[in-house]
Amino acid sequence: MAYHTSHEEHEIQIINIASLEEQVRARMERGAFGYIRGGAEDEWTMRENTEAFHHKKIVPRVLRGIDHADLTTRLWDIPLKTPIIQAPSAAQGLAHEKGEIDTAVGAAEAGTLFCISTYASTPIEAAAAAAPGAPQFFQLYMSKDEKFNEFLVQKAVAAGAKAVILTVDSTLGGYREEDIVTQFQFPLPMPNLAAYSASDGVGKGISEIYAAAKQGIVPSDIEAIKKISGIPVIVKGIQSPGDAEVAVSAGADGIWVSNHGGRQLDGGPASFDVLPSVAAAVNHRVPVIFDSGVRRGEHVFKALASGADLVAVGRPVIYGLNLGGAAGVASVFRHLNKELSITMQLAGTKNIEEIKHTVLLG
Ligand code: FNR
Ligand code: LAC
Repeated sequence: MAYHTSHEEHEIQIINIASLEEQVRARMERGAFGYIRGGAEDEWTMRENTEAFHHKKIVPRVLRGIDHADLTTRLWDIPLKTPIIQAPSAAQGLAHEKGEIDTAVGAAEAGTLFCISTYASTPIEAAAAAAPGAPQFFQLYMSKDEKFNEFLVQKAVAAGAKAVILTVDSTLGGYREEDIVTQFQFPLPMPNLAAYSASDGVGKGISEIYAAAKQGIVPSDIEAIKKISGIPVIVKGIQSPGDAEVAVSAGADGIWVSNHGGRQLDGGPASFDVLPSVAAAVNHRVPVIFDSGVRRGEHVFKALASGADLVAVGRPVIYGLNLGGAAGVASVFRHLNKELSITMQLAGTKNIEEIKHTVLLG
């Protein structure tokens, strides 16, 4: 049966990011929505990801003569209009007929970073062509087949990817009960898989897709990907200081603190709760990117004050894509930027550097 999804292309009015989820639930095919929204097992870690931002408080500062906030920042030589970037997410064709094409355009419009997944609904080069000159990263799920890894990385480099994100927290799928209840299987092809092998993922669940990936990822894989690509490699899915040390020592050019939005190990800590210790272990040797559970500008502020250089959002971008296409994605970043800007001014911080030097309470 044909898969029906959104064709809309317009800005969306956002009261708050959290409200987007129910708007999408009302209009998206049940299995696809469950796959996007869902977390692992009891979804305790998924809920804790957002709750944990209450564990630390921002003390407002006044008399600092601040009449506007400057959100601009940079990662290496990449200028960004905001420290909020898009987290890579698979199969964006589930949310919109244009999929990653529109997400790339929306992220470019927002002056931020777009990251395309190995399991995207769009060829890497097509997403790059949709937003020429805009910074894009390629997120790699390593295959057991080294030639496939080479094929994917070289395809991304040829398309102009500025870095590879090596995701290491998903060597198999978390126990996602909603996908079992709905018997979710991907209805749309994954062209970057199809370009190399017969299987394009159609009719498979995420567990089957993961089963074809490499399970035994080791530190030397970081150097191997760096060698193939010749561009920086960011290791995504780090939750412990010890692993951060291992990854940096093995050549990681960036650390992405994430628990995959609570979709993998349920019962683990909120990603925000481990950020300070991981950032301390990295000790400014390489950039730190943070994600999982970010839904407010104040969450972004707290992550930046806790050691992150950039903060990524996953589900909110997918919801914006579904509700408004490229303009919907841009609307999500615009809203989060608005909230961050208000938080910055009330906290007495005029730019991103000042946030990074802010001490939170608690
Ligand atoms: C993801 N995520 C993810 N991560 C990754 O490295 N490669 C991928 O292909 C995907 N795919 C994916 C699909 C969907 C539907 C979701 C919701 C998430 C994880 C993603 O990059 C990020 O870590 C989390 O989404 C961040 O949490 P929030 O912002 O969604 O709460
Ligand atoms: C997920 C994979 C694709 O979370 O990262 O569904």
